[in-house]
Amino acid sequence: MTDYTGQVAFITGGASGAGFGQATVFAEAGCKIVIADIRRAAVDEATVRLRAQGVTAHGIHLDVTDRAAYARAADEVERVFGKPPELLFNTAGVNTFGPVEKSTYEDFDWLVGVNFWGVVNGMMTFVPRMIAAGRGGYIVTTSSMGGFMGSAAAAIYSAAKAAVINLMESYRLALEKYGIGVSVLCPANIRSNIAEATRVRPAHLSHTGYVVNEEVIESLRRIHSHGLDPVVLARRTKEAMEARQLYIIPYPEQKEPLVEHFKQIVDSVLPLEADPEGARQRTEALQNWIKDRQAITSRGKSD
Ligand SMILES: NC(=O)c1ccc[n+]([C@@H]2O[C@H](COP(=O)([O-])OP(=O)(O)OC[C@H]3O[C@@H](n4cnc5c(N)ncnc54)[C@H](O)[C@@H]3O)[C@@H](O)[C@H]2O)c1
Repeated sequence: MTDYTGQVAFITGGASGAGFGQATVFAEAGCKIVIADIRRAAVDEATVRLRAQGVTAHGIHLDVTDRAAYARAADEVERVFGKPPELLFNTAGVNTFGPVEKSTYEDFDWLVGVNFWGVVNGMMTFVPRMIAAGRGGYIVTTSSMGGFMGSAAAAIYSAAKAAVINLMESYRLALEKYGIGVSVLCPANIRSNIAEATRVRPAHLSHTGYVVNEEVIESLRRIHSHGLDPVVLARRTKEAMEARQLYIIPYPEQKEPLVEHFKQIVDSVLPLEADPEGARQRTEALQNWIKDRQAITSRGKSD
């Protein structure tokens, strides 16, 4: 069991759904909670709810796509708590569905902006501060099962979530030496308010190629009403963090589709007998390049 007492957890999208579940569970574990969310009233409501349970909670109105605001939010955390967070949850996310061929640039800009650049901004803001604080820590970024597979109706969302998975694999390798763990949470369905996401879509990115009306929103509400409870999801996330798992996928029904998907990829690789000499040469070249890079890095010419 990890001791979280007094640790600061910064949770984007913390006012609702998965983020509020994380706030609840990590507060129970002894953390001080920062709720960072684009919906100002929801931030206030979430912090009031947490404080009523005796939790030390601080709310910040933040649009994760706004880099300057993100830096100010990080300064505010250090002012209030005297240190950067030990735990970062990149949980804010938005979705909207429609045929990819009808997408507008605004559909791309909004979905990639929040789901990918929002995560990049979280990492760029906090990772240097966490390293400088020298206390280690943990980062959990919420991607999606959609990040493993393309989808004709959620193409942009899935592409952004795929990028997030890949980025977290890289950060995990890079941050291990600082004692900072990294996991990527890939939910399939959460009992959350994501059906309402288009309500926080900025006016300047409102031009869409998709049909978004009350009927569409209601059908999404129906799916998500059967999703995993956010508190249960956060408990599973905490267990997986403590087991230092890279991927967190607490959805048993997803095993078979994932096996099928990755089998298709692995099966498309040529067997070694198809080009043994070429494979040997390329592998050797790669190993030599890695050795060169290590030598260059150790001479301090590059990092
Ligand atoms: N609901 C699902 O079935 C599902 C499935 C897979 C992945 N996810 C992912 O889970 C994460 C949490 O979503 P949820 O389902 O709890 O939805 P939710 O709508 O209940 O919570 C998301 C929160 O993010 C906030 N937010 C939206 N845009 C923001 C921005 N630009 N800056 C800051 N905050 C912003 C919203 O105000 C909201 O409070 C998201 O990353 C989502 O993509 C959800």
